[in-house]
Amino acid sequence: MEYFFVLIIISSIFFHSITSNSISTDGFLECFTYHLQHHYDKNDPVYSKIILTKTNSHYTSLLQSSIRNGRFLNNSLTPKPEIILTPFHKSQVQAAVICSKRNELQIKVRSGGHDYEGLSYVSDVSPFMIIDLINYQSIKVDIRNEVALVEAGATLGQLYYEIAKKSKVHGFPAGSCSTVGVGGHFSGGGFGTIFRKYGLAADNILDAEIVNVNGEVLNRQSMGEDLFWAIRGGGGSSFGVILSWKVKLVRVPPSVTISHIEKTLDEGGAKLLNKWQTTGKQFHEDLFLHVTTAVTTAVDGTKKTIQVAFTSLFLGPAKNLVSLMDQNFPELGLQLENCTEMSWIQSVLYFAGFSINGPLEILANRSTTNVGFFKGKSDYVSEPISETGLEGLWQKLYEDEGSFLIWSPYGGRMSQISDSEIPFPHRSGNLYGIQYMVTWNSENETENHIGWMKRLYSYMAPYVSKSPRAAYFNYRDLDIGRNERVGNTSYAKARTWGLRYFRHNFIRLVRVKTKVDPCNYFRNEQSIPVLQSGRMKGKN
Ligand code: FDA
Repeated sequence: MEYFFVLIIISSIFFHSITSNSISTDGFLECFTYHLQHHYDKNDPVYSKIILTKTNSHYTSLLQSSIRNGRFLNNSLTPKPEIILTPFHKSQVQAAVICSKRNELQIKVRSGGHDYEGLSYVSDVSPFMIIDLINYQSIKVDIRNEVALVEAGATLGQLYYEIAKKSKVHGFPAGSCSTVGVGGHFSGGGFGTIFRKYGLAADNILDAEIVNVNGEVLNRQSMGEDLFWAIRGGGGSSFGVILSWKVKLVRVPPSVTISHIEKTLDEGGAKLLNKWQTTGKQFHEDLFLHVTTAVTTAVDGTKKTIQVAFTSLFLGPAKNLVSLMDQNFPELGLQLENCTEMSWIQSVLYFAGFSINGPLEILANRSTTNVGFFKGKSDYVSEPISETGLEGLWQKLYEDEGSFLIWSPYGGRMSQISDSEIPFPHRSGNLYGIQYMVTWNSENETENHIGWMKRLYSYMAPYVSKSPRAAYFNYRDLDIGRNERVGNTSYAKARTWGLRYFRHNFIRLVRVKTKVDPCNYFRNEQSIPVLQSGRMKGKN
Protein backbone atom coordinates (compact mmCIF):
# COMPACT_ATOMS: atom_id res chain seq x y z
CA MET A 1 0.00 0.00 0.00
CA GLU A 2 2.78 2.35 1.05
CA TYR A 3 4.72 1.39 -2.08
CA PHE A 4 1.68 2.10 -4.24
CA PHE A 5 1.23 5.50 -2.61
CA VAL A 6 4.89 6.48 -3.22
CA LEU A 7 4.53 5.33 -6.83
CA ILE A 8 1.53 7.58 -7.35
CA ILE A 9 3.40 10.55 -5.92
CA ILE A 10 6.49 9.89 -8.05
CA SER A 11 4.51 9.40 -11.24
CA SER A 12 2.44 12.48 -10.64
CA ILE A 13 5.58 14.57 -10.10
CA PHE A 14 7.08 13.06 -13.25
CA PHE A 15 3.90 13.56 -15.24
CA HIS A 16 3.52 17.10 -13.97
CA SER A 17 7.08 17.95 -14.95
CA ILE A 18 6.67 16.45 -18.43
CA THR A 19 3.40 18.24 -19.05
CA SER A 20 4.51 21.59 -17.66
CA ASN A 21 7.72 21.37 -19.68
CA SER A 22 5.84 20.68 -22.89
CA ILE A 23 3.31 23.40 -22.12
CA SER A 24 6.19 25.87 -21.66
CA THR A 25 7.82 24.68 -24.87
CA ASP A 26 4.65 24.85 -26.94
CA GLY A 27 3.82 28.24 -25.48
CA PHE A 28 7.29 29.49 -26.22
CA LEU A 29 7.24 28.29 -29.81
CA GLU A 30 3.87 29.86 -30.47
CA CYS A 31 4.89 33.14 -28.87
CA PHE A 32 8.28 33.18 -30.62
CA THR A 33 6.77 32.62 -34.08
CA TYR A 34 4.13 35.25 -33.44
CA HIS A 35 6.68 37.77 -32.22
CA LEU A 36 9.03 37.38 -35.12
CA GLN A 37 6.21 37.60 -37.64
CA HIS A 38 4.27 40.45 -36.08
CA HIS A 39 6.79 42.57 -34.27
CA TYR A 40 10.14 42.14 -35.91
CA ASP A 41 10.69 40.55 -39.26
CA LYS A 42 7.61 39.48 -41.18
CA ASN A 43 9.65 37.86 -43.91
CA ASP A 44 12.14 36.11 -41.69
CA PRO A 45 12.37 32.72 -43.38
CA VAL A 46 14.83 31.17 -40.99
CA TYR A 47 13.10 31.21 -37.64
CA SER A 48 11.95 27.64 -37.87
CA LYS A 49 15.51 26.50 -38.61
CA ILE A 50 17.10 28.17 -35.63
CA ILE A 51 15.08 26.28 -33.04
CA LEU A 52 15.90 22.74 -32.05
CA THR A 53 13.72 20.77 -29.64
CA LYS A 54 14.57 17.44 -28.05
CA THR A 55 13.00 15.52 -30.94
CA ASN A 56 15.22 17.10 -33.57
CA SER A 57 17.95 14.82 -34.94
CA HIS A 58 20.61 17.55 -34.59
CA TYR A 59 19.65 18.42 -31.00
CA THR A 60 22.27 16.27 -29.24
CA SER A 61 25.15 17.12 -31.56
CA LEU A 62 24.42 20.84 -31.25
CA LEU A 63 24.09 20.59 -27.46
CA GLN A 64 27.39 18.75 -27.20
CA SER A 65 29.26 20.84 -29.78
CA SER A 66 30.30 23.49 -27.26
CA ILE A 67 30.58 21.36 -24.14
CA ARG A 68 34.18 21.61 -22.98
CA ASN A 69 34.03 19.59 -19.80
CA GLY A 70 33.48 15.81 -20.00
CA ARG A 71 31.72 15.93 -16.62
CA PHE A 72 28.63 17.27 -18.43
CA LEU A 73 29.01 15.64 -21.86
CA ASN A 74 27.35 12.24 -21.73
CA ASN A 75 26.05 12.34 -18.20
CA SER A 76 22.42 11.20 -18.17
CA LEU A 77 21.89 13.02 -14.85
CA THR A 78 22.77 16.37 -16.41
CA PRO A 79 19.50 18.28 -17.05
CA LYS A 80 18.84 19.00 -20.73
CA PRO A 81 17.29 22.10 -22.29
CA GLU A 82 13.81 21.91 -23.83
CA ILE A 83 14.93 24.16 -26.68
CA ILE A 84 18.21 25.30 -28.19
CA LEU A 85 17.95 28.55 -30.13
CA THR A 86 20.79 29.58 -32.44
CA PRO A 87 19.92 33.15 -33.44
CA PHE A 88 21.37 35.02 -36.41
CA HIS A 89 19.72 38.31 -35.58
CA LYS A 90 19.10 40.39 -32.46
CA SER A 91 15.33 40.35 -33.09
CA GLN A 92 15.41 36.59 -32.49
CA VAL A 93 17.14 37.10 -29.13
CA GLN A 94 14.63 39.79 -28.19
CA ALA A 95 11.70 37.49 -29.04
CA ALA A 96 13.34 34.63 -27.13
CA VAL A 97 13.69 36.72 -23.95
CA ILE A 98 10.11 37.97 -24.10
CA CYS A 99 8.62 34.55 -24.87
CA SER A 100 10.72 32.52 -22.46
CA LYS A 101 9.81 34.89 -19.65
CA ARG A 102 6.15 34.69 -20.55
CA ASN A 103 6.26 30.87 -20.58
CA GLU A 104 8.49 30.48 -17.52
CA LEU A 105 11.33 28.90 -19.43
CA GLN A 106 14.66 29.72 -17.79
CA ILE A 107 17.31 31.01 -20.24
CA LYS A 108 20.93 29.92 -20.36
CA VAL A 109 23.23 31.85 -22.69
CA ARG A 110 26.16 30.08 -24.28
CA SER A 111 28.99 31.65 -26.21
CA GLY A 112 32.08 29.41 -26.13
CA GLY A 113 30.76 26.88 -23.58
CA HIS A 114 33.92 26.95 -21.43
CA ASP A 115 32.24 27.60 -18.10
CA TYR A 116 34.07 25.35 -15.60
CA GLU A 117 30.78 24.16 -14.11
CA GLY A 118 28.80 24.07 -17.36
CA LEU A 119 26.48 26.89 -16.29
CA SER A 120 25.87 28.00 -19.89
CA TYR A 121 24.13 24.74 -20.77
CA VAL A 122 23.21 23.00 -17.48
CA SER A 123 20.49 24.35 -15.19
CA ASP A 124 19.21 23.68 -11.70
CA VAL A 125 15.93 25.29 -12.76
CA SER A 126 13.59 23.34 -15.02
CA PRO A 127 12.35 23.78 -17.71
CA PHE A 128 15.06 25.77 -19.44
CA MET A 129 16.34 26.68 -22.89
CA ILE A 130 19.71 27.65 -24.30
CA ILE A 131 20.40 30.67 -26.46
CA ASP A 132 23.51 29.39 -28.20
CA LEU A 133 25.36 32.22 -29.94
CA ILE A 134 27.20 29.89 -32.29
CA ASN A 135 25.85 31.83 -35.31
CA TYR A 136 26.56 35.18 -33.72
CA GLN A 137 30.25 35.53 -34.36
CA SER A 138 30.98 38.33 -36.81
CA ILE A 139 34.09 40.42 -36.10
CA LYS A 140 34.87 43.81 -37.65
CA VAL A 141 38.37 45.13 -37.06
CA ASP A 142 38.99 48.83 -37.66
CA ILE A 143 42.75 49.36 -37.49
CA ARG A 144 42.58 53.09 -38.29
CA ASN A 145 40.57 53.70 -35.11
CA GLU A 146 42.18 50.79 -33.24
CA VAL A 147 38.86 49.19 -32.31
CA ALA A 148 37.00 45.98 -33.06
CA LEU A 149 33.32 45.10 -32.98
CA VAL A 150 32.99 41.51 -31.84
CA GLU A 151 29.75 39.56 -31.63
CA ALA A 152 29.42 37.66 -28.36
CA GLY A 153 29.50 34.17 -29.89
CA ALA A 154 32.95 34.70 -31.42
CA THR A 155 35.96 33.02 -29.84
CA LEU A 156 39.22 34.57 -28.66
CA GLY A 157 41.04 32.74 -31.47
CA GLN A 158 38.73 34.24 -34.07
CA LEU A 159 39.32 37.71 -32.68
CA TYR A 160 43.12 37.31 -32.62
CA TYR A 161 43.03 35.89 -36.15
CA GLU A 162 40.93 38.75 -37.53
CA ILE A 163 43.24 41.32 -35.91
CA ALA A 164 46.33 39.56 -37.32
CA LYS A 165 44.85 39.59 -40.82
CA LYS A 166 44.81 43.38 -40.69
CA SER A 167 47.82 44.34 -38.57
CA LYS A 168 51.07 42.88 -37.27
CA VAL A 169 51.36 45.50 -34.56
CA HIS A 170 47.97 45.24 -32.89
CA GLY A 171 46.60 42.69 -30.47
CA PHE A 172 44.08 42.32 -27.67
CA PRO A 173 44.71 41.44 -24.01
CA ALA A 174 42.63 38.33 -23.35
CA GLY A 175 43.10 34.65 -22.51
CA SER A 176 45.24 31.98 -24.14
CA CYS A 177 42.81 29.24 -25.15
CA SER A 178 41.58 29.97 -28.67
CA THR A 179 38.15 28.32 -28.30
CA VAL A 180 37.06 30.37 -25.25
CA GLY A 181 34.05 32.56 -26.13
CA VAL A 182 34.18 36.34 -25.79
CA GLY A 183 30.64 36.37 -24.31
CA GLY A 184 31.59 34.64 -21.06
CA HIS A 185 35.27 35.57 -21.00
CA PHE A 186 34.98 39.35 -21.38
CA SER A 187 31.97 39.58 -19.07
CA GLY A 188 33.91 37.73 -16.34
CA GLY A 189 37.26 39.60 -16.66
CA GLY A 190 39.60 37.75 -19.04
CA PHE A 191 43.35 37.72 -18.47
CA GLY A 192 46.23 36.52 -20.63
CA THR A 193 49.86 37.01 -21.55
CA ILE A 194 49.75 40.81 -21.94
CA PHE A 195 47.54 41.66 -18.99
CA ARG A 196 50.50 43.07 -17.01
CA LYS A 197 50.86 45.65 -19.78
CA TYR A 198 47.23 46.32 -20.72
CA GLY A 199 44.97 44.88 -18.00
CA LEU A 200 42.08 42.49 -18.57
CA ALA A 201 39.90 42.08 -21.63
CA ALA A 202 37.12 43.70 -19.57
CA ASP A 203 39.35 46.74 -18.93
CA ASN A 204 39.47 47.33 -22.68
CA ILE A 205 35.77 47.33 -23.54
CA LEU A 206 34.42 50.56 -24.96
CA ASP A 207 30.81 49.66 -25.60
CA ALA A 208 28.43 46.70 -25.59
CA GLU A 209 25.02 45.69 -26.86
CA ILE A 210 22.75 43.73 -24.55
CA VAL A 211 19.17 42.45 -24.66
CA ASN A 212 17.66 43.21 -21.27
CA VAL A 213 14.90 41.48 -19.35
CA ASN A 214 12.23 43.43 -21.28
CA GLY A 215 13.62 42.32 -24.61
CA GLU A 216 15.06 45.76 -25.38
CA VAL A 217 18.41 46.17 -27.11
CA LEU A 218 20.61 48.58 -25.16
CA ASN A 219 24.04 50.03 -25.82
CA ARG A 220 26.38 51.79 -23.40
CA GLN A 221 24.48 55.04 -23.62
CA SER A 222 21.02 53.56 -23.22
CA MET A 223 21.97 50.99 -20.56
CA GLY A 224 23.76 53.59 -18.44
CA GLU A 225 27.13 53.41 -16.71
CA ASP A 226 25.99 51.17 -13.84
CA LEU A 227 24.95 48.27 -16.04
CA PHE A 228 27.90 48.87 -18.36
CA TRP A 229 30.15 48.62 -15.28
CA ALA A 230 28.47 45.41 -14.10
CA ILE A 231 28.81 43.42 -17.32
CA ARG A 232 32.56 44.09 -17.52
CA GLY A 233 33.60 41.51 -14.94
CA GLY A 234 30.41 40.81 -13.00
CA GLY A 235 29.30 38.12 -15.49
CA GLY A 236 26.82 38.68 -18.31
CA SER A 237 24.39 35.97 -17.32
CA SER A 238 22.94 37.89 -14.35
CA PHE A 239 22.01 40.88 -16.47
CA GLY A 240 20.82 39.86 -19.93
CA VAL A 241 22.05 38.51 -23.23
CA ILE A 242 25.15 40.32 -24.42
CA LEU A 243 25.08 40.57 -28.20
CA SER A 244 28.39 42.25 -28.95
CA TRP A 245 31.36 44.14 -27.58
CA LYS A 246 33.27 47.11 -28.95
CA VAL A 247 36.85 46.73 -27.78
CA LYS A 248 39.99 48.85 -27.86
CA LEU A 249 42.87 47.18 -29.67
CA VAL A 250 46.32 47.50 -28.11
CA ARG A 251 49.74 47.94 -29.73
CA VAL A 252 52.27 45.15 -29.80
CA PRO A 253 55.80 45.25 -31.26
CA PRO A 254 56.41 43.55 -34.65
CA SER A 255 58.60 41.04 -32.85
CA VAL A 256 58.19 39.56 -29.34
CA THR A 257 60.13 36.87 -27.47
CA ILE A 258 59.04 33.62 -25.89
CA SER A 259 61.33 31.88 -23.40
CA HIS A 260 60.98 28.53 -21.68
CA ILE A 261 63.00 26.86 -18.91
CA GLU A 262 62.05 23.75 -16.93
CA LYS A 263 63.60 22.57 -13.66
CA THR A 264 62.65 19.65 -11.47
CA LEU A 265 62.82 19.89 -7.68
CA ASP A 266 66.23 18.13 -7.76
CA GLU A 267 67.43 20.75 -10.21
CA GLY A 268 66.45 23.59 -7.89
CA GLY A 269 62.92 24.20 -9.24
CA ALA A 270 61.48 24.96 -5.79
CA LYS A 271 64.14 27.58 -4.99
CA LEU A 272 63.47 29.30 -8.29
CA LEU A 273 59.75 29.30 -7.63
CA ASN A 274 60.43 30.74 -4.22
CA LYS A 275 62.32 33.65 -5.74
CA TRP A 276 59.68 34.06 -8.47
CA GLN A 277 56.98 34.50 -5.83
CA THR A 278 58.22 38.02 -5.15
CA THR A 279 60.01 38.92 -8.40
CA GLY A 280 57.29 37.86 -10.89
CA LYS A 281 55.19 40.85 -9.88
CA GLN A 282 58.12 43.32 -9.89
CA PHE A 283 59.20 42.76 -13.49
CA HIS A 284 58.72 45.41 -16.12
CA GLU A 285 55.15 45.29 -17.45
CA ASP A 286 56.45 44.17 -20.88
CA LEU A 287 57.35 40.84 -19.30
CA PHE A 288 54.91 38.11 -18.35
CA LEU A 289 56.72 35.16 -16.74
CA HIS A 290 54.31 32.51 -15.59
CA VAL A 291 54.98 29.16 -13.95
CA THR A 292 53.34 25.76 -14.27
CA THR A 293 53.98 22.96 -11.79
CA ALA A 294 53.08 19.33 -12.41
CA VAL A 295 54.11 15.83 -11.38
CA THR A 296 56.69 14.22 -13.67
CA THR A 297 59.21 11.38 -13.61
CA ALA A 298 62.75 12.31 -12.52
CA VAL A 299 65.51 12.15 -15.17
CA ASP A 300 66.82 8.83 -13.85
CA GLY A 301 63.33 7.37 -14.35
CA THR A 302 63.13 6.02 -10.80
CA LYS A 303 60.92 8.39 -8.91
CA LYS A 304 58.30 11.04 -9.18
CA THR A 305 59.22 14.67 -8.90
CA ILE A 306 57.68 18.04 -9.62
CA GLN A 307 58.51 19.89 -12.78
CA VAL A 308 58.56 23.66 -12.42
CA ALA A 309 58.29 25.30 -15.86
CA PHE A 310 58.96 29.02 -16.39
CA THR A 311 57.49 30.38 -19.63
CA SER A 312 57.56 34.02 -20.61
CA LEU A 313 56.24 36.40 -23.19
CA PHE A 314 58.34 39.55 -23.55
CA LEU A 315 57.20 42.47 -25.68
CA GLY A 316 60.64 43.09 -27.18
CA PRO A 317 63.80 41.42 -28.54
CA ALA A 318 65.49 38.39 -26.96
CA LYS A 319 68.67 40.25 -25.99
CA ASN A 320 66.66 42.74 -23.94
CA LEU A 321 64.82 39.91 -22.22
CA VAL A 322 68.06 38.16 -21.32
CA SER A 323 69.53 41.34 -19.87
CA LEU A 324 66.33 42.09 -17.93
CA MET A 325 66.44 38.59 -16.43
CA ASP A 326 70.16 38.93 -15.66
CA GLN A 327 69.35 41.96 -13.57
CA ASN A 328 66.20 40.74 -11.87
CA PHE A 329 66.24 36.95 -11.82
CA PRO A 330 69.81 35.75 -12.56
CA GLU A 331 69.17 32.45 -10.72
CA LEU A 332 66.96 31.31 -13.60
CA GLY A 333 70.00 31.38 -15.90
CA LEU A 334 68.07 32.49 -18.96
CA GLN A 335 70.22 32.40 -22.14
CA LEU A 336 69.54 33.44 -25.69
CA GLU A 337 69.15 29.77 -26.63
CA ASN A 338 66.11 29.54 -24.33
CA CYS A 339 64.46 32.32 -26.33
CA THR A 340 62.60 32.47 -29.66
CA GLU A 341 61.68 35.70 -31.40
CA MET A 342 58.40 35.72 -33.31
CA SER A 343 55.40 37.86 -34.20
CA TRP A 344 52.80 38.52 -31.52
CA ILE A 345 50.26 36.32 -33.30
CA GLN A 346 52.78 33.46 -33.30
CA SER A 347 53.07 33.89 -29.54
CA VAL A 348 49.28 33.51 -29.44
CA LEU A 349 49.64 30.20 -31.33
CA TYR A 350 52.35 29.15 -28.86
CA PHE A 351 50.31 29.80 -25.73
CA ALA A 352 47.24 28.20 -27.32
CA GLY A 353 49.29 25.02 -27.76
CA PHE A 354 49.76 25.18 -31.56
CA SER A 355 52.92 25.13 -33.67
CA ILE A 356 54.17 28.69 -34.19
CA ASN A 357 54.85 27.89 -37.83
CA GLY A 358 51.41 26.46 -38.51
CA PRO A 359 48.60 28.25 -40.34
CA LEU A 360 46.94 31.10 -38.44
CA GLU A 361 43.52 29.80 -39.53
CA ILE A 362 43.74 27.19 -36.79
CA LEU A 363 42.98 29.97 -34.31
CA ALA A 364 39.55 30.37 -35.87
CA ASN A 365 38.70 26.68 -35.55
CA ARG A 366 36.11 26.18 -32.78
CA SER A 367 35.97 22.41 -32.78
CA THR A 368 37.66 20.31 -30.11
CA THR A 369 38.18 16.62 -30.70
CA ASN A 370 39.08 15.49 -27.21
CA VAL A 371 36.85 16.70 -24.39
CA GLY A 372 38.40 15.67 -21.08
CA PHE A 373 36.97 15.81 -17.56
CA PHE A 374 38.23 18.58 -15.31
CA LYS A 375 37.77 20.51 -12.10
CA GLY A 376 39.42 23.88 -11.47
CA LYS A 377 39.74 26.27 -8.53
CA SER A 378 41.65 29.48 -7.93
CA ASP A 379 43.39 31.50 -5.24
CA TYR A 380 45.19 34.80 -4.84
CA VAL A 381 48.46 35.17 -2.93
CA SER A 382 49.73 38.36 -1.32
CA GLU A 383 52.49 36.95 0.92
CA PRO A 384 55.01 34.44 -0.43
CA ILE A 385 54.22 30.84 0.50
CA SER A 386 56.88 29.48 2.89
CA GLU A 387 59.28 26.73 1.79
CA THR A 388 57.53 24.35 4.16
CA GLY A 389 54.21 25.33 2.64
CA LEU A 390 55.54 24.55 -0.83
CA GLU A 391 56.95 21.21 0.30
CA GLY A 392 53.54 20.20 1.62
CA LEU A 393 52.03 21.33 -1.68
CA TRP A 394 54.32 19.01 -3.68
CA GLN A 395 53.24 16.11 -1.45
CA LYS A 396 49.62 16.92 -2.28
CA LEU A 397 50.35 17.03 -6.03
CA TYR A 398 51.93 13.55 -5.85
CA GLU A 399 48.56 12.26 -4.65
CA ASP A 400 46.92 13.10 -7.99
CA GLU A 401 49.05 12.87 -11.08
CA GLY A 402 46.37 14.42 -13.26
CA SER A 403 46.91 17.70 -11.46
CA PHE A 404 48.77 20.84 -12.42
CA LEU A 405 48.98 24.40 -11.17
CA ILE A 406 49.34 27.63 -13.14
CA TRP A 407 50.93 30.55 -11.31
CA SER A 408 50.26 33.94 -12.95
CA PRO A 409 52.17 37.05 -11.84
CA TYR A 410 50.19 40.22 -11.17
CA GLY A 411 51.68 43.74 -10.87
CA GLY A 412 52.30 46.09 -13.78
CA ARG A 413 49.11 47.65 -15.16
CA MET A 414 47.00 45.36 -12.96
CA SER A 415 48.27 47.20 -9.87
CA GLN A 416 47.49 50.60 -11.35
CA ILE A 417 43.82 50.04 -12.12
CA SER A 418 41.49 50.73 -9.19
CA ASP A 419 39.86 47.67 -7.62
CA SER A 420 36.43 49.15 -8.22
CA GLU A 421 36.98 50.37 -11.79
CA ILE A 422 35.08 47.26 -12.91
CA PRO A 423 33.68 44.39 -10.77
CA PHE A 424 36.94 42.38 -11.02
CA PRO A 425 38.61 43.39 -7.71
CA HIS A 426 41.93 41.48 -7.67
CA ARG A 427 44.39 44.28 -8.39
CA SER A 428 47.31 45.74 -6.38
CA GLY A 429 48.38 43.80 -3.33
CA ASN A 430 48.37 40.46 -5.13
CA LEU A 431 51.70 38.86 -5.90
CA TYR A 432 50.09 36.28 -8.14
CA GLY A 433 47.05 34.15 -8.81
CA ILE A 434 47.06 30.35 -8.78
CA GLN A 435 44.84 28.12 -10.81
CA TYR A 436 44.51 24.54 -9.55
CA MET A 437 43.49 22.10 -12.23
CA VAL A 438 42.94 18.37 -12.30
CA THR A 439 42.00 16.42 -15.42
CA TRP A 440 40.91 12.81 -15.97
CA ASN A 441 39.37 10.60 -18.64
CA SER A 442 36.33 8.76 -17.38
CA GLU A 443 33.20 9.26 -15.35
CA ASN A 444 34.07 6.67 -12.69
CA GLU A 445 37.17 8.66 -11.67
CA THR A 446 35.21 11.85 -11.09
CA GLU A 447 34.53 11.51 -7.39
CA ASN A 448 38.17 10.71 -6.55
CA HIS A 449 39.60 13.69 -8.40
CA ILE A 450 37.02 16.13 -7.09
CA GLY A 451 37.65 14.85 -3.56
CA TRP A 452 41.38 15.35 -4.04
CA MET A 453 40.82 18.88 -5.33
CA LYS A 454 38.83 19.73 -2.20
CA ARG A 455 41.65 18.44 0.01
CA LEU A 456 44.22 20.44 -1.92
CA TYR A 457 42.11 23.57 -1.57
CA SER A 458 41.81 23.16 2.18
CA TYR A 459 45.54 22.50 2.45
CA MET A 460 46.24 25.84 0.72
CA ALA A 461 43.97 27.90 3.01
CA PRO A 462 46.72 29.18 5.37
CA TYR A 463 48.90 30.36 2.49
CA VAL A 464 46.48 32.38 0.40
CA SER A 465 44.24 35.45 0.68
CA LYS A 466 41.83 35.53 3.62
CA SER A 467 38.66 37.24 4.79
CA PRO A 468 37.46 36.64 2.22
CA ARG A 469 39.54 33.99 0.49
CA ALA A 470 39.46 35.43 -3.03
CA ALA A 471 38.69 33.54 -6.24
CA TYR A 472 38.53 34.40 -9.94
CA PHE A 473 34.96 34.48 -11.26
CA ASN A 474 35.93 33.09 -14.67
CA TYR A 475 37.32 29.99 -12.94
CA ARG A 476 33.83 29.22 -11.72
CA ASP A 477 33.65 26.96 -8.71
CA LEU A 478 30.28 25.86 -7.34
CA ASP A 479 31.93 24.47 -4.19
CA ILE A 480 32.64 27.96 -2.90
CA GLY A 481 30.60 28.61 0.21
CA ARG A 482 28.54 25.46 -0.33
CA ASN A 483 29.09 24.08 3.15
CA GLU A 484 29.39 27.35 5.00
CA ARG A 485 26.90 27.92 7.77
CA VAL A 486 25.04 30.98 6.62
CA GLY A 487 21.46 32.14 6.89
CA ASN A 488 18.79 30.60 4.69
CA THR A 489 18.23 33.62 2.48
CA SER A 490 19.53 33.54 -1.06
CA TYR A 491 21.46 36.74 -0.29
CA ALA A 492 23.32 35.12 2.60
CA LYS A 493 24.20 32.19 0.37
CA ALA A 494 25.23 34.42 -2.52
CA ARG A 495 27.50 36.47 -0.26
CA THR A 496 29.65 33.40 0.36
CA TRP A 497 30.79 33.29 -3.25
CA GLY A 498 29.97 36.89 -4.18
CA LEU A 499 32.45 38.45 -1.77
CA ARG A 500 35.16 36.04 -2.87
CA TYR A 501 34.75 36.73 -6.56
CA PHE A 502 33.98 40.44 -6.33
CA ARG A 503 34.89 41.60 -2.79
CA HIS A 504 33.34 45.05 -2.08
CA ASN A 505 32.03 45.25 -5.67
CA PHE A 506 29.51 42.52 -4.88
CA ILE A 507 27.27 45.04 -3.12
CA ARG A 508 27.23 47.35 -6.14
CA LEU A 509 26.50 44.38 -8.41
CA VAL A 510 23.49 43.52 -6.24
CA ARG A 511 22.23 47.10 -6.54
CA VAL A 512 22.60 47.10 -10.32
CA LYS A 513 20.91 43.71 -10.58
CA THR A 514 18.01 44.93 -8.44
CA LYS A 515 17.56 47.91 -10.71
CA VAL A 516 17.75 46.16 -14.08
CA ASP A 517 16.20 42.75 -13.33
CA PRO A 518 14.08 43.18 -10.17
CA CYS A 519 12.23 39.87 -10.69
CA ASN A 520 15.53 37.97 -10.88
CA TYR A 521 14.68 36.47 -14.24
CA PHE A 522 18.30 36.05 -15.44
CA ARG A 523 19.58 33.69 -12.83
CA ASN A 524 21.76 30.66 -12.31
CA GLU A 525 23.51 28.81 -9.48
CA GLN A 526 25.89 31.75 -8.99
CA SER A 527 24.06 34.76 -10.35
CA ILE A 528 23.89 38.10 -8.59
CA PRO A 529 20.83 38.15 -6.26
CA VAL A 530 18.16 40.83 -6.03
CA LEU A 531 17.64 43.24 -3.14
CA GLN A 532 14.04 43.96 -2.19
CA SER A 533 12.91 46.25 0.62
CA GLY A 534 16.14 45.65 2.47
CA ARG A 535 15.96 41.89 1.96
CA MET A 536 17.23 39.61 -0.74
CA LYS A 537 14.95 37.39 -2.75
CA GLY A 538 15.51 34.87 -5.52
CA LYS A 539 15.33 31.16 -5.98
CA ASN A 540 19.02 30.26 -6.03
P1 FDA B 1 30.23 29.93 -21.66
O1 FDA B 1 29.53 30.05 -22.94
O2 FDA B 1 30.20 28.63 -20.96
O3 FDA B 1 29.74 31.10 -20.70
C1 FDA B 1 30.25 31.29 -19.40
C2 FDA B 1 29.25 32.08 -18.58
O4 FDA B 1 28.99 33.33 -19.20
C3 FDA B 1 27.89 31.40 -18.44
O5 FDA B 1 27.31 31.76 -17.21
C4 FDA B 1 27.10 31.99 -19.57
O6 FDA B 1 25.71 31.93 -19.39
C5 FDA B 1 27.62 33.42 -19.59
N1 FDA B 1 27.55 33.98 -20.93
C6 FDA B 1 28.20 33.53 -22.01
N2 FDA B 1 27.90 34.31 -23.06
C7 FDA B 1 27.06 35.25 -22.64
C8 FDA B 1 26.39 36.31 -23.28
N3 FDA B 1 26.55 36.54 -24.57
N4 FDA B 1 25.55 37.09 -22.56
C9 FDA B 1 25.37 36.84 -21.24
N5 FDA B 1 25.99 35.85 -20.56
C10 FDA B 1 26.82 35.05 -21.27
N6 FDA B 1 40.08 32.56 -18.44
C11 FDA B 1 41.02 33.54 -18.47
O7 FDA B 1 40.81 34.63 -17.92
N7 FDA B 1 42.20 33.35 -19.12
C12 FDA B 1 42.48 32.21 -19.78
O8 FDA B 1 43.55 32.08 -20.37
C13 FDA B 1 41.51 31.16 -19.76
N8 FDA B 1 41.74 29.98 -20.40
C14 FDA B 1 40.79 28.98 -20.36
C15 FDA B 1 41.05 27.76 -21.00
C16 FDA B 1 40.09 26.75 -20.95
C17 FDA B 1 40.38 25.43 -21.65
C18 FDA B 1 38.89 26.94 -20.26
C19 FDA B 1 37.85 25.83 -20.19
C20 FDA B 1 38.62 28.15 -19.65
C21 FDA B 1 39.57 29.17 -19.68
N9 FDA B 1 39.34 30.40 -19.04
C22 FDA B 1 40.30 31.38 -19.08
C23 FDA B 1 38.08 30.62 -18.32
C24 FDA B 1 37.08 31.35 -19.23
O9 FDA B 1 37.43 32.72 -19.27
C25 FDA B 1 35.66 31.22 -18.65
O10 FDA B 1 35.31 29.88 -18.56
C26 FDA B 1 34.66 31.98 -19.53
O11 FDA B 1 33.49 32.25 -18.80
C27 FDA B 1 34.32 31.20 -20.77
O12 FDA B 1 33.52 31.95 -21.63
P2 FDA B 1 32.66 31.16 -22.73
O13 FDA B 1 31.86 32.13 -23.48
O14 FDA B 1 33.57 30.25 -23.49
O15 FDA B 1 31.79 30.23 -21.80
